[in-house]
Amino acid sequence: MSEQRVEISAEDRVFVLTGAGISAESGLATFRDSDGLWAEHAIEDVCTPEAWERNPELVWQFYSARREGAERAIPNAAHVALAALEKRLEGRFFLCTQNVDDLHERAGSRNLMHMHGELFASRCSGECGRAPRRDHALYPTLADVARCDCGALMRPHIVWFGEVPMGMDHISAELSRATVMLVVGTSGSVYPAANFVRWAGHAGARTVYVGPEAPLNAAAFTQVVLGKAGEVLPGLLAD
Ligand code: APR
Repeated sequence: MSEQRVEISAEDRVFVLTGAGISAESGLATFRDSDGLWAEHAIEDVCTPEAWERNPELVWQFYSARREGAERAIPNAAHVALAALEKRLEGRFFLCTQNVDDLHERAGSRNLMHMHGELFASRCSGECGRAPRRDHALYPTLADVARCDCGALMRPHIVWFGEVPMGMDHISAELSRATVMLVVGTSGSVYPAANFVRWAGHAGARTVYVGPEAPLNAAAFTQVVLGKAGEVLPGLLAD
């Protein structure tokens, strides 16, 4: 790999994992940076099933504020660079994001999995099993919160701490056949996502991290490219 480019051959299959850092230059807060969401809110108050049981109104206020921010945000050069790479690789590309915003889709990404759920979807908080539905509404008070046809409150379609990430069978199948793995803007603090680099490495893939500081799992990467995603990715992935 040249210093500033990730070489991708006609045989390579690329698996990309993104985290909150890729949306930072779009103005969305990360979680663990000094000005991140977890500096403002306690995880146990807004991002666990117990938080929901205890105070669903506070949970919806947290996600409503994040919906407002994400609606205003626009995809940055990093999101656009990944969508361009997907188009160029014609089927040899898979994007797994830990992010719940829709900036990848709005940049043109299509073959992607939101392993921690989606901000603009809600689902029944009960057991009726109805599918999640698209939802851009804001819920400032409990009285405003939409209800499922079964009568239960609608909850954010988000994977909270203690819940099972989404799409893991699909994600592990893609990881096992990737020859190049690119990880962008994630601190490597949360599992199973922080292990994906090891799984891909064991399958023989080259693994590259992009972010302004080394992640906790930096030692597992073939290469760490320090820089902001929006500034580095377009050159790194240039055709
Ligand atoms: N470009 C690239 N990376 C950046 C940028 C940027 N402009 N700005 C910050 N970063 C990096 C930070 O250095 C940090 O490593 O983004 C990373 C953000 O880390 P976290 O805030 O921990 O976010 P993330 O890794 O996505 O969190 C994983 O934790 O709270 C849960 O479910 C939540 O999906 C989230 C998961």
